[in-house]
Amino acid sequence: MKSLTADQLREMYLKFFESKGHAIIPGASVIPENDPTVLFTTAGMHPLVPYLMGQMPHPAGTRLTDVQKCVRTGDIDAVGDAAHLTFFEMLGNWSLNDYFKKEAISWSFEFLTQHLGFSPEQLSVTVFAGEDGIPADDEAAAIWRGLGIPDERIYRLPREDNWWGPAGTTGPCGPDTEMFIDTGKPKCSDACRPGCHCGKFIEIWNDVFMQYNKNAEGKYEPLGRHNVDTGMGVERTICMMSGAPTVYDTEIFAPIMGAIKELGADEAELGISADEVLKARRIVADHMRTATFILCDPKGGVKPGNVGANYVLRRLIRRAVRYGRQLGIAPGFTPKLAEVISSKYAHVYPELAENLAQCKADLEAEENRFTQTLDKGEAMFNKVAEQLKAHGQSQISGKTAFKLYDTFGFPFEMTLEMADKAGLAVDKEGFEEANRKHQELSRTTSAGSFKAGLQDNSEVVTRMHTATHLLHAALHKVLGPTANQKGSNITPERLRFDFTWPEKMTDEQIKEVERLVNGWIAQGIDVTKKMTTVEEAKAEGAMALFGSKYGDQVSLYTIGDVSKEICSGPHVANTRELGSFKIQKEQSSSAGVRRIKAVIGNM
Ligand code: ALA
Repeated sequence: MKSLTADQLREMYLKFFESKGHAIIPGASVIPENDPTVLFTTAGMHPLVPYLMGQMPHPAGTRLTDVQKCVRTGDIDAVGDAAHLTFFEMLGNWSLNDYFKKEAISWSFEFLTQHLGFSPEQLSVTVFAGEDGIPADDEAAAIWRGLGIPDERIYRLPREDNWWGPAGTTGPCGPDTEMFIDTGKPKCSDACRPGCHCGKFIEIWNDVFMQYNKNAEGKYEPLGRHNVDTGMGVERTICMMSGAPTVYDTEIFAPIMGAIKELGADEAELGISADEVLKARRIVADHMRTATFILCDPKGGVKPGNVGANYVLRRLIRRAVRYGRQLGIAPGFTPKLAEVISSKYAHVYPELAENLAQCKADLEAEENRFTQTLDKGEAMFNKVAEQLKAHGQSQISGKTAFKLYDTFGFPFEMTLEMADKAGLAVDKEGFEEANRKHQELSRTTSAGSFKAGLQDNSEVVTRMHTATHLLHAALHKVLGPTANQKGSNITPERLRFDFTWPEKMTDEQIKEVERLVNGWIAQGIDVTKKMTTVEEAKAEGAMALFGSKYGDQVSLYTIGDVSKEICSGPHVANTRELGSFKIQKEQSSSAGVRRIKAVIGNM
């Protein structure tokens, strides 16, 4: 196995696809040009959507290849493990209604085995198992078999695993075939397979066969074109080639991880475990890399703030500052790390040198603001702790924790951490209760105040998803079992729910539905998921969408004794995460079908 640098890998990849007739095109901005459905460019295909849809020919032809900067914050909580990052570089090759499965898969295999030096035995692949009337991808499986991958390493998985896209809510998408490297670690269980998150199999490349369009009604319609969209992760591939245990142990992260270590206090003095130190360093490295790329992006316009992409950026910087503090790094470190990141990347991304001065100034300002908040919060916390101890008490009340958070902007996690160190307990439930009450008070019926979006879109959408199940259950309770779901549509701003009902709901009915849903939210009911068959789920009394086709195995989401629905998810773990629920509109959708638009509160 060769050990390549990221620079070498990018060049090899582009040259390889150039030799197969592809035009090398520049990657796009990480801030999407004209697309309100996403906050950041999440994949290489994103800037190519109009060409994949066939709306216009691409000026460089029908075979393209590039390197794309991507930001994905959906898995922000997984950052710090072996392979999750909020920023990564994606190598891609595209066929715009040109070649299809045979060429795409054969070239992926050729590049992996003959150029990168992976042995075919290290490779496991997945193909689409078929779902919703779209057939299994036997063709992709046969091509892999023809290349020498035996059947036991060709896994057939459902849409949840083997379907990609669309990037926003509508657009091109299709079944994919994903390539995994077996790290040689033991399987975590008998069910361990590519797609399992235990770290045995690491996905490095995905070939998507974009033959479908997801339309505004959520239906998959044939696109009438056979596109290929592929994505290979630079960091993961370098990690697998070098045999490094995690992406943070590759040459890509060496300078930044080195700088973080250097700036931090002596490990023995930090009072946290070695694992926690390592995780904190990785989070700082990841978040600072992402923040630097966003702030230096040539399109510009994203600054730390409270809404949308600005809020995501603020959250990344503040999280980095918080973990930096945990590592004993002196304030003023974020501009220093931006410099290290710029030195590593500026020869590939000149904007990291050109826009560095402004980026450093923005980081410094945000770090200062947040550091002041933390300092004030810490001082307040210490006062509270002293007073409690003076009165012989050992628990911080929910009200006090909420005041620290709401009035002083002190993150609740920091209250928990500091309380732990001071030997004090915290009334977590009391905090959440105070938070919920506050939200109810400050809630207005305008979507605007909810839109302030104190989190990523993906999190809001997940919460809306669970709110939809609660709404459905409440409608059954208030209107009876004939008030059945006819359609559902979720955007980060609101949920929309269509159901069968012959007349306008009364004000009392609307209030009662809201009261029920808010009651379930306040109860903090756990949401659980299990895999089962449609028959068993129905036998348990689960709601399923009449007329839908389901696969052999379906996921069944249960919310205490309130709701049971077959649904592909995702959902929150506990109803409390929804904050609060409010119906904004109840109107006619079509004959015999009513439509509700509702919003949920901020977290
Ligand atoms: N668009 C595909 C992905 O991001 C290649 O995995």
